[in-house]
Amino acid sequence: MAAPAEALNNAHKPASGDTPNYAAGKATVELRGVHKGFGHDEEREEIVEDLSLTITAGQLTALVGPSGCGKSTIVNLVAGYERPDKGEILIDGRKVSGASQDRMVVFQESALFPWLTTRQNITFGPRLRGDMPHDEIESEANRLLARVGLTEFRDKYPTQLSGGMQRRAELARAMMNRPRLMIMDEPFRGLDAMTRKLMQIFFLRLFEENRRTNLFVTSEIEEAILLADRIVILSNRPTKVARIVDVTLPRPRDFHMLSSREGFDYKREALAILHKEAQKSFSATGKDFADAFTKRYGKTT
Ligand SMILES: Nc1ncnc2c1ncn2[C@@H]1O[C@H](COP(=O)(O)OP(=O)(O)O)[C@@H](O)[C@H]1O
Ligand SMILES: [Mg+2]
Repeated sequence: MAAPAEALNNAHKPASGDTPNYAAGKATVELRGVHKGFGHDEEREEIVEDLSLTITAGQLTALVGPSGCGKSTIVNLVAGYERPDKGEILIDGRKVSGASQDRMVVFQESALFPWLTTRQNITFGPRLRGDMPHDEIESEANRLLARVGLTEFRDKYPTQLSGGMQRRAELARAMMNRPRLMIMDEPFRGLDAMTRKLMQIFFLRLFEENRRTNLFVTSEIEEAILLADRIVILSNRPTKVARIVDVTLPRPRDFHMLSSREGFDYKREALAILHKEAQKSFSATGKDFADAFTKRYGKTT
């Protein structure tokens, strides 16, 4: 594999061409008064309560919140894997009633087919559906392989790839389907710090090139600031929107922006709200989670 620094430089090439209309062909998602709970009778727990939120076309909306607050539950609702108990989810004004190929979900776990090569994995969707001309499959696969730095690994099988490469192959596979909405649930969790940074840059360049509407779940506030146009900070269960922070850092984004005055201000603002939520939830349990939180992230208030 190319040295990480070299790969970073390659990934860094800005998107070329005219300024496209980023909202064209991209989905707008609306959650209206969504409720979701699990269990029955006294075992029942409300997870999401009266959640309303708009995910704007062509934007990356990051969902940030305490662990277990219901982020994956929201992902499953928007993906159409689960139904709300009350309220509705609309995509371009149409109610979500099940999964659809115009919504691609990338999870933390690898979902590559082990018996297919990188290239076969990436081209699997359109080949199966037969909805893209052969030439176009070829050229789009080549473009995406280059974009995620896997051209040399196109004929390798998933077990021959590192964890970071597998994640990149999955990204390319999802993008190959040209979804109107990408949903990513903590896709880079569990990667070591350097690999994660590399992933963030590869992903940023892909996102900034096409600006497919993206719902991106993360527990890392810096990742959210680096990637997002809008950060939705969730409260504890039952989950509601605690605060929305619009991130107006210019694009293309870069890591140095995180240490700028503006980047730092976003971080302080977001951490203060998360800290408050952490305090609220753990004061009842007697565990001093807020202290642990302060130890990890420093004082925020
Ligand atoms: N299918 C399910 N059945 C029962 N409980 C569930 C189900 N899915 C999620 N939960 C519960 O909902 C809560 C939120 O989970 P989740 O959405 O995975 O949180 P997060 O992704 O924010 O960590 C957890 O307490 C979890 O146990
Ligand atoms: Mg989750």
